[in-house]
This record gives sequence, structure tokens and C-alpha cells, in this order.
Amino acid sequence: MSLFRFLKSSSNRVTINPSGVSFSVKPGQSILEAGLAAGYAMPHSCTVGTCGTCKCKLQQGRIRELSNFAYILNGQELKDGVILTCQAALKSDVTLSVPDFEIKKLTPPEDFDGQIVAIEDLTHDTKRVRIKLDRPIHFDAGQYVQIHHEAIYGARSYSFAMAPKDAGCREIDLFIRHVPGGEFTGMLFDGKLDQGTVKVHGPAGNFWLREGLGPIVCVAGGSGLAPIVSLLEQAAKSSQGRPCVMFFGARTREDLYCLDRINEIEKSWDSPFKFIPVLSNEPEDSDWTGMRGFVNSAIESAASQYLSGETQVYVCGPPPMIDAVSETVGALGVTANNIHADKFLDASHGLSRHN
Ligand code: FES
Repeated sequence: MSLFRFLKSSSNRVTINPSGVSFSVKPGQSILEAGLAAGYAMPHSCTVGTCGTCKCKLQQGRIRELSNFAYILNGQELKDGVILTCQAALKSDVTLSVPDFEIKKLTPPEDFDGQIVAIEDLTHDTKRVRIKLDRPIHFDAGQYVQIHHEAIYGARSYSFAMAPKDAGCREIDLFIRHVPGGEFTGMLFDGKLDQGTVKVHGPAGNFWLREGLGPIVCVAGGSGLAPIVSLLEQAAKSSQGRPCVMFFGARTREDLYCLDRINEIEKSWDSPFKFIPVLSNEPEDSDWTGMRGFVNSAIESAASQYLSGETQVYVCGPPPMIDAVSETVGALGVTANNIHADKFLDASHGLSRHN
């Protein structure tokens, strides 16, 4: 067999409808991996077959399941030819239907060597960690990287807590919240990672500010503040002409952080900007005069006038908060394609995302 024929038979192609984008997938590679490596904004979150974000429909061709789809897809979906791109390799050329696929070229992920050069307390359980890389990384505001330490199995994913720079960033900041029982954060909070070396893989994720004319509503919970701050700091550099309401859900006043940076965003935003912290567990007798309760209820009472089919909602934090917020804003008229979520999961969800 000639080398040409061998190469031709060793990789297959994916075509994505309705965009018409097409890329090749190497043997053993998942469709998602190949799409991201080609720089396409494939919908995804966990990458390990547990969240369902990468669901799409197989229209033509044959795939091989890298793990059993039945763990996450229901009987009807399996019957309808729904697949998970993060858990599917190709047996032939295939055509997929991915309605939410946006033709946006992203920086393909790469491997970097990193060293932790600074660690700062933001709250009692959240730290800002600065990592110096062997070369600059380019990313979109709102994306994340995976961090791997040689002493710990698997990688942990953390969002960039900073806006990107045109020349790329040689140093990156992450907000890392302590996860009780979490191996990586346990070492970090015990001081065992000071000046430590790590492997960094990225950028990844499809959480970025979409173009539009309508209002922007951002909702952050806990360390979910990182991608929201990144996205808004980047957006504040250019003219938006769009009103923005930002909610920050926390337990108590002591859990609020980064308020100076949010203040700077507010000052440079070129349209009305409202920042609304919401505390769910602040002692009754404290002198807190701001909003109390859960952030989805706060949205209902403080932002319903901003919500319409034109509004884009960006929500980032723990899954229950994301589900509650998505349901609330959906009921108030925001269309599903305008709700963008970045779920922060931990080991209890069978993942190593943000723990
Ligand atoms: Fe594929 Fe989560 S199931 S990205």
C-alpha cells in the first residue's frame, strides 16, 4: 500500500451541519479533541462523558463509543442517534448536526510548563494563584486551562481570572477554591505547592462574550467569579453600548472578593452597569443592607426589566446555581441559545473540573 493510501485510510473526516465546517480526526482521537485541536469552538464542558454539553446528532457515518453513551443519554436520545463528541471516535467519515456550533476560530490548546510564582488569599477558602509559563498563552476571555501536578492523578480545570493580552500572557492568574477532601487544593492550601512546577494544558472552553446588542446579565457564584471578571474586563476595554447587570452570589460578606476590580469594570463600562452582590447565609443581625437569599430570586426582583429575548446571560458557578438561574431567566423570556453557562464541578461529580 502506498504511503498516500495508508494516510488516507488512517484518518476520517467530520462535517458539521448546518455550518458546513469540516476537519479530520485521527484514529483513537475523539471528535471533540480533533475539533478543538483544529481550533473550532465545539460545545463541551467536562470532556469525560458526564455533563452532556457535547451532545449532537449523528446524521451519517459510523462512530465508535470510547465510553458507554448510555451513562448520560436516555433511551430516546440513543434511538435518535444522539452521540457525545467527547466520547466518540470515527469508524468512517461522518456528518453531524450541531445546531449551537458557532464558527469561531479559537486558539488550539497546547502543553506548557508552568511554575507557581505567587499565591494570595482572597477569602478564607479561595486563593489567587499566579503561574509563570514557559511561553505566552493566547486565549479568549472566559476560557480555562487544565493543571496537572506530578504527584496527583488527573488534571484540574480552572478559568483564567484575567483578561487576555494581544501578545499573549506569560503569567496567568487563577482563582482556586478549597475543596474539602480535594487532593490538589489540599496540597495548595497546606502550602505544599509554593513555587511548585505544574503542567498546563489549554486554552479550553466555549464561555466567551457573544456579539449582540441586547443587555448582558452576568451571574457568578464562588470561584465562578474568575471567568466573569475575565470576560467583563476584556469587554470593558472596547465600546459595548450595552447595559450590564452583574450578580455575585456568596454565602456571607466575608466570601465576597475582587470588589476593587469589579469597581474598575463599572467605572470603565460605557453604558449603565449595576453590580449586585447577593448573600445567602449572612447572619441576620449583621449590618448588611444588600440583597439576601439565592441569586436566582435576586435576578427575578432586581433584573427582570433587563431580561428579554435579546438579553445574553452568562452564568458560572456550581451546577445547582446554574440550573436555578437558567430556569429563572428562561421563564422570564431569555432564549436558551442566549444562556451561556460554565459549570464548576468537583470530584463528587466524577470529574476533576475546578477542584
Ligand atoms: Fe462531552 Fe461533557 S459529556 S463534554
